[in-house]
Amino acid sequence: MRTSALPASWYGDPEIHARERRAIWGREWLVFAPAARLAFPGRYVAGAIAGWPIFVIVDPDGSLRGFHNVCAHRAGPIVADGHGSSGNLVCRYHGWAYEWDGSLRKARDFGDGPIPDGLRLPPIRVERWRNLVWVCLDGEAPPLGEALGGFADQCAEFPMEAFQFTHEQVRVLACNWKTYADNYLEGYHIPMVHPELSREIDLRRYSVEVFARDGYCLHSAPPRDGAANAGRWLFRYPNLALNVYSDGMNVERIFPDGPDRTLVVYEYFFRDPDDPANEEAVKLSGVTLDQDQAICEAVQRNLDAGVYRSGPLSVKHEGALAWFQSRLEQAIG
Ligand code: FES
Ligand SMILES: [Fe+2]
Repeated sequence: MRTSALPASWYGDPEIHARERRAIWGREWLVFAPAARLAFPGRYVAGAIAGWPIFVIVDPDGSLRGFHNVCAHRAGPIVADGHGSSGNLVCRYHGWAYEWDGSLRKARDFGDGPIPDGLRLPPIRVERWRNLVWVCLDGEAPPLGEALGGFADQCAEFPMEAFQFTHEQVRVLACNWKTYADNYLEGYHIPMVHPELSREIDLRRYSVEVFARDGYCLHSAPPRDGAANAGRWLFRYPNLALNVYSDGMNVERIFPDGPDRTLVVYEYFFRDPDDPANEEAVKLSGVTLDQDQAICEAVQRNLDAGVYRSGPLSVKHEGALAWFQSRLEQAIG
């Protein structure tokens, strides 16, 4: 386990980013969308994960299908980024059409001349767990259930399927994705960066427990008023923060958008979508996000400045960072 932080150069080096694309983003199971966005035939969600453009679509039988959003002709996209509906798989560039299994059906008006056999949309793995759709670009990875292990057990008592997806916040941060993930993994900064949050929780009892075998950690922060802590704050390697309560949940995903930009996608689910308190909860989490964004962007500027190489990690507060950074270092070799 690491006792010092990763070298500053890892937070922006294009070569490290290229290695992470293959060893992390091309290999792990990742939450891709709320299942509510993929509830009917034809519904799709598309987007790039660390420079891998992919989409998931519901076929006419209601099954989830996932593909790289890259046509076999000259790499055009099949669907536009975002979410919507499409009754077929037709490339938006020259109109080649694909079967639902991804094989080429028709090369529109191609004329004479050979088309090699076996052209297709490259498939990706898709699985649904509870009310979330996950993807994995690695054909050799274990099935999702096996990969989740004890992480799934942590959520078992919460009625996630009863929660409705209502709000979304998307942020682009001027920092490497690890700068933001590191920040998520410790509560050490809370008194300095989040004064509102520190008034609500008993920071002396803030703890982060690491479950290394199953690749996740569990934050606990008892509320100051002594109320029972009814929720779970989980972080799953490499990029998922899941806060789940009895009456709702937040899903926060952290992606690289190149070596020096990070996409944070925050999705909110509530048991009662009409409860006026929901707006307030989303607003408050936006304030916390603003505070984390500001400190992460300031840290990134300093990492880039060339005066800092690495510093010590606190055993008391930064054990989850030590785990996360060690695992990452191992993954990219
Ligand atoms: S790139 Fe898809 S049809 Fe030409
Ligand atoms: Fe924070």
